[in-house]
Amino acid sequence: MALEKDYKFSDYKNLVEEHLLSCLPEIDPMSMILYDAMKYSLQAGGKRIRPVLLLASCDFCGGDINMAIPYALAVEYIHNYSLIHDDLPSMDNDDLRRGLPSNHKVYGEGMAILAGDGLLTSAFEAMNKDMLLYFDSDSCLKCRVKAAYEIAKGAGCRGMVAGQATDIEMVSKSACEKLLDYIHINKTGALIVAAIRAGAHLGDADDKTLQALTNYGELIGLAYQISDDILDVTGDEAVMGKRKNHDSGTNKCTYVTINGVDKSRERVRELTSDALRIMEPYYDNAEFFNELAKSLEVRIK
Ligand code: IPE
Ligand code: IPE
Ligand code: MG
Ligand code: MG
Ligand code: MG
Repeated sequence: MALEKDYKFSDYKNLVEEHLLSCLPEIDPMSMILYDAMKYSLQAGGKRIRPVLLLASCDFCGGDINMAIPYALAVEYIHNYSLIHDDLPSMDNDDLRRGLPSNHKVYGEGMAILAGDGLLTSAFEAMNKDMLLYFDSDSCLKCRVKAAYEIAKGAGCRGMVAGQATDIEMVSKSACEKLLDYIHINKTGALIVAAIRAGAHLGDADDKTLQALTNYGELIGLAYQISDDILDVTGDEAVMGKRKNHDSGTNKCTYVTINGVDKSRERVRELTSDALRIMEPYYDNAEFFNELAKSLEVRIK
């Protein structure tokens, strides 16, 4: 494995910020408003955890992170589309996102839907463009195709979209533990796992490492959404950049509304310590992944 393992979260994040708009297609000036709406959400900030995980995973597996940039950006574009749609009045009806008015509050519902569509399709355009670029060279086309497939699967109706669909179906109802896990694993876990697996493919990971990273991703993906549910109750609106107590106000089925804050915190602790255990065989090489898992616990203290 390469020695540049001391890349930290902020280094990967800086790379994402530096290239953020570079994989968007050139937009016709006639539809500049659409481009503005897409950029509005993308440039509003965000922790960038998914693209960072993709780059870290590629790096961990010995891949070239520069090669992974279009895939990392594709994941972030998809995530931003999901947030724009998630905030719509017909979904969570949220008026604040990343400390700014939600996309539809600025551009109107119709344009917000289209900005989401634009970001989603741009993600696939970017990945396909990259694959075409390397189609006739020997520089690992198969790894790229595998990465794009993981991202499509995680984002789609066997992943994030399925979770979101079940999430809105369950409003004002009470979910059993299994259904609650299903929602969280899909609406949030699936894209996180996809990002990690895509990065691993781009680094041409061996089966054992791919499996370990997948297990790690499943654990922290679920923990990430439970943390989000906890922060909805305990977090600081100014820090989160989104409304507090919104889940109970909109009768959402969350870990906290079903199990309470204490039990939810305990579940996050269990999941993150399982994630740390998964990475134990990798010792110091897994420092990035260990630190990230630990940071999830710190966030909800
Ligand atoms: C918010 O995701 C929605 C969830 C899936 C929890 P993030 O908490 O990653 O949001 P940003 O991208 O940092 O704004
Ligand atoms: C959203 O979950 C998951 C997505 C796929 C966008 P939430 O609805 O809990 O996310 P926030 O709290 O609005 O960021
Ligand atoms: Mg939601
Ligand atoms: Mg929401
Ligand atoms: Mg939430």
